[in-house]
Amino acid sequence: MKFKFLNSADSYGLVNKHFHWIMAVIIIFNFILALILDDFPKGPMRSFLFSIHKSTGILVIILLIPRLLWRLVNTVPVSLGNIKTLNKLSKYVHYFFYFILLVVVFSGWTYSSARSGPFEVFGLFTAPALIENNQVVANIAKEIHGISVYIFITVLGIHVLASLLHHYVFKDKTLKRMWYGDSN
Ligand code: HEM
Ligand code: HEM
Repeated sequence: MKFKFLNSADSYGLVNKHFHWIMAVIIIFNFILALILDDFPKGPMRSFLFSIHKSTGILVIILLIPRLLWRLVNTVPVSLGNIKTLNKLSKYVHYFFYFILLVVVFSGWTYSSARSGPFEVFGLFTAPALIENNQVVANIAKEIHGISVYIFITVLGIHVLASLLHHYVFKDKTLKRMWYGDSN
């Protein structure tokens, strides 16, 4: 079996597919974790879950860097829809995804830094504080984190709906070519 690592004009390669699906699982996990965490009373369990939330967020940053570089050096498959405006829109949605994800993770990191300094990432290494203790910055970063994450989830909803629309209504290869099929 021959593996296709690079993207081509009509399909995504293995590297892009792995980045896409592994990161989707990690990000959705971290979102749900943050919601569950909120119901826990102050104590060691809440602190532990928070450290997992922050560590997972740092993991997202670590994966985002090679993903963005890979995207920059790679072809991006052409959109398959028949409506030109929607094809253009999907391109902007993809750019916006990267932008809003960066806002989510760095506002979270800034908030955490301004409130409580450096922290351990999965007990493996220390993430430095991006900024010194500062309650005003902490409050602003917290607001930005909360708002940007909900903008992100709304865009994700549109993204998922669009891919289902392509698959079930337009019946084109949009979802299949991001999944693991014949070509990979
Ligand atoms: C994919 C990445 C991330 C997602 C999806 C995410 C999601 C969330 C969500 C949904 C909340 C609850 C917000 C609310 O209801 O107001 C939250 C809170 C929080 N997040 Fe994140 N987060 C991410 C990354 C990070 C990172 C990288 C850090 C820090 C290094 C972080 C630190 C925090 C903190 C400290 C809170 C508590 C804020 C509060 O007290 O209300 N998050 N996050
Ligand atoms: C946190 C979750 C997700 C993020 C951040 C995300 C982000 C992206 C981005 C940036 C792209 C453009 C290609 C690339 O740069 O890799 C893309 C493509 C795609 N995504 Fe997602 N995605 C997520 C979840 C999902 C889910 C749950 C589905 C389906 C149910 C999905 C279906 C697709 C499809 C079908 C494409 C290819 C679109 C095309 O060929 O034009 N994504 N996604």
